[in-house]
Amino acid sequence: MSKSLYIKTFGCQMNERDSEIIEQLLAQEGYVPTAEPEGADVILINTCSIREKAEQKVFSLLGSLRPEKLRNPHLLLGVTGCVAQQEGEQIRERMPHVDLIVGTQQIYRLPEMLDRLHQGVTSKEIATNMEASFTIPPFQKLLAGVSPSPSPQGFKRFVTIMQGCDNFCSYCVVPGTRGREISRPMADILEEVAILVDQGVREITLLGQNVNSYGTTNRVAEEQIDFPRLLRAVAAIEGVQRLRFTTSHPKDLTEELMRCFAEIDNLCPHFHLPVQSGSNAVLRRMNRKYTAQDYLDKVERLRRYRSDIALATDIIVGFPGETEADFQATMDLLNRVRYHGSFSFKYSDRPHTRSAEFGDKVPEEEKSRRLALFQERQDQICFERNCEYIGETVEIMVEATSSAGLKGRTPSNHIVHCPEATVNLRPGELALVCISHAGKHSLKGQIEN
Ligand code: 5AD
Ligand code: SF4
Repeated sequence: MSKSLYIKTFGCQMNERDSEIIEQLLAQEGYVPTAEPEGADVILINTCSIREKAEQKVFSLLGSLRPEKLRNPHLLLGVTGCVAQQEGEQIRERMPHVDLIVGTQQIYRLPEMLDRLHQGVTSKEIATNMEASFTIPPFQKLLAGVSPSPSPQGFKRFVTIMQGCDNFCSYCVVPGTRGREISRPMADILEEVAILVDQGVREITLLGQNVNSYGTTNRVAEEQIDFPRLLRAVAAIEGVQRLRFTTSHPKDLTEELMRCFAEIDNLCPHFHLPVQSGSNAVLRRMNRKYTAQDYLDKVERLRRYRSDIALATDIIVGFPGETEADFQATMDLLNRVRYHGSFSFKYSDRPHTRSAEFGDKVPEEEKSRRLALFQERQDQICFERNCEYIGETVEIMVEATSSAGLKGRTPSNHIVHCPEATVNLRPGELALVCISHAGKHSLKGQIEN
């Protein structure tokens, strides 16, 4: 008889990809995904610990699942992902109704772990055993055991090219939760992309914590392969209509990678290049290894290669010791780059990070004030940027259709609504749209016939 599986995913695209892999692994064991936790046989919470808020959400969800666990004694409740990796014991203490805690490197053992739990082995025994027996790097296991299967948004998929991070930004848990950088062999990546394209996938996003350093550290990958070469090889696979990648570190953005934006037709002109701060003093304490000027120079050169490139970024406000002048330097950088979009966060102390030990913490209200100022200005810029598209014809890849028209995405990653669309287009198909309206977060237009 089939068993039902509910997965709740928090956090980044890495986690979304891990949840997909978990779903595929467990589908082979007869688990069928369900949309509601109520009545599920297995509930897995795939967690994120990048910021304090993300972690708080995990604990409050786990607390709210306690009654379900009491109602249904057969239910197995598991925690995977970064919080599990870093705070395993704390979860066990605070949430004794959790049956299983699985770190980021161990999701491939889930079928086996669930099996043992069903047989009555205790979760503590499993944890001890798993630690001793874990040896297989995740990528290799993925290729040996799991072939990608279609998902609801079947036309676009993530492909993991590297995992972990060696940068040790002083505020960041990732090197602790995801481990050292490891690059996946190029042949395996190309094989996975070819399989996906065969299944009808049209857009590929290459995924890693720091994709720009693909092939340069702790490589499993072959000699002489770097990220631009990989990008060119993936772009050349027949059927890859759109190619994107995320995430990048500015210090690893080379001239050769910039050139890719000019030379690779199907590489989308959209680049997420987290800057974190516009102040050199803060960047130094963050251990980012570049100055604001280095970053601005790279942005300028990038725009010379591809003038229509849409840039997005991540910003942290209220890093320990951030003065008003430091914050103004961030605002200044925002005004110079004029990002098409950004993700901005209040700094929070994370376990085992260096910045958690730094003095001179910025008070909570001040962090909120700076965040609001940043976001207000970014919203204005988004709107101004979006207005630049009015009157232009852009290509969209359709994402969803309904009786109220359709929604698609441009190569620059803007969402476009076409409320009056009468043509019969399916998700994944391309259409030309003339933009007539701009909002802060999306564009509106009419399909051109
Ligand atoms: N506090 C606030 N934001 C953080 N980020 C990472 N660590 C922290 C932290 N301790 C942000 C960075 C990163 C994004 C994924 O999350 O901006 O790029
Ligand atoms: Fe964290 Fe820095 Fe690595 Fe990004 S580059 S994952 S912010 S340590």
